[in-house]
Amino acid sequence: MTELNDDNQFFQDIYDDPSIIWMGQNTNHFPTADAIKTAMVNAIVKEEYHKYPPPYGLEQLRQLILQDLGLNSDHSVHITEGGTESLYQVTRALLKPGDVMISTDPGYYVIHRFAELSGARVLDIPIYSADNDYKLTPEMVNESIDEHVKMLTLVDPLNPLGVTYTSQEVKAFSEIAEDTGIYLLNDVTYRDLAKLHTLAADFYSEGTITIYSFSKNCGLAGLRLGAHIATHELIEQLAPYKINDLGTSIISQTAGILALKTKPDWLPNVVESITVNQAIIKDAVDKIEGAYLPVYPSQGSMFVIDTLDTRRSPEYITDKMLKRGFFIRAAEYTTRRFADRYVRVSFALPKPDVERFAHEFPKVFQ
Ligand SMILES: Cc1ncc(COP(=O)(O)O)c(C=O)c1O
Repeated sequence: MTELNDDNQFFQDIYDDPSIIWMGQNTNHFPTADAIKTAMVNAIVKEEYHKYPPPYGLEQLRQLILQDLGLNSDHSVHITEGGTESLYQVTRALLKPGDVMISTDPGYYVIHRFAELSGARVLDIPIYSADNDYKLTPEMVNESIDEHVKMLTLVDPLNPLGVTYTSQEVKAFSEIAEDTGIYLLNDVTYRDLAKLHTLAADFYSEGTITIYSFSKNCGLAGLRLGAHIATHELIEQLAPYKINDLGTSIISQTAGILALKTKPDWLPNVVESITVNQAIIKDAVDKIEGAYLPVYPSQGSMFVIDTLDTRRSPEYITDKMLKRGFFIRAAEYTTRRFADRYVRVSFALPKPDVERFAHEFPKVFQ
């Protein structure tokens, strides 16, 4: 077996086991609105999948995403197979050997890996400290800027911590990026789950690329649907690097259209449920000696549980929880420096599953 095959087998095994409670990928497991499912079924029954879809996405979906973000007609949308494809394409197109991308530790290291594939170096600024509220600050960015920096990555809300940035902070980051002429990669995958959220594109539209996903807000992760949005000029510049020249799944795009059209019907329930669910987990964590939540409440569908003082390693904890039927993630996946400190747990799933988690999790520390 190669490492790749081992990895895949791990995911296949948990995928195949319907009893596993999926709290390891921040995905949304609430039931899907009927209108979204019906639209997909209709598209299949009408066999709409014989033709290739338009290369940058169905026009209706592109318009709905612009409306959803409240961005004006200076912007274009490129539909992709998920934020992941967009992140790959954007880093590939805009970074080259010798460039530096500023990001955070903890952070979403998939983006760092993509930047490194383009030959860029990633400056992952450590933010795991109460001194800075577990956030990147404009001062940290200012101190790190030099002529090699070409991109600032702002994942907001941030996977794995669940912090979000205030409008003043987003404005400050945008001004730094604009003044120094660098790109701002604004990954807003968890935006809909935050109580308040500000887009960097509202301040610095010329240099911001917004990464958009349908995986976490309306639970379409397995359909693989996302987008990136930027000014017409920037989208043109990114276009030669597109991966799916022949467009993105028509079934997924059909679901995306209905999801956006019906958003007021399902989003408030999702937000309400994750608020309740994370409180249930907090109660359980509060009873574990040495464990705590650095960030609470989270503005995403996940948070981290600091377990350093429990003297149980994150790998030990995730392993024990998997044996009890819960898939959660060790820190290592989202950090370079703090891998001994935490596990990441997501909570966009039905309340009874979260209650079971809250019951089982403390047992790992007994
Ligand atoms: C910050 C961030 N961006 C992008 C993604 C992937 O999004 P998608 O499912 O749309 O590819 C994730 C998934 O966890 C994420 O946390």
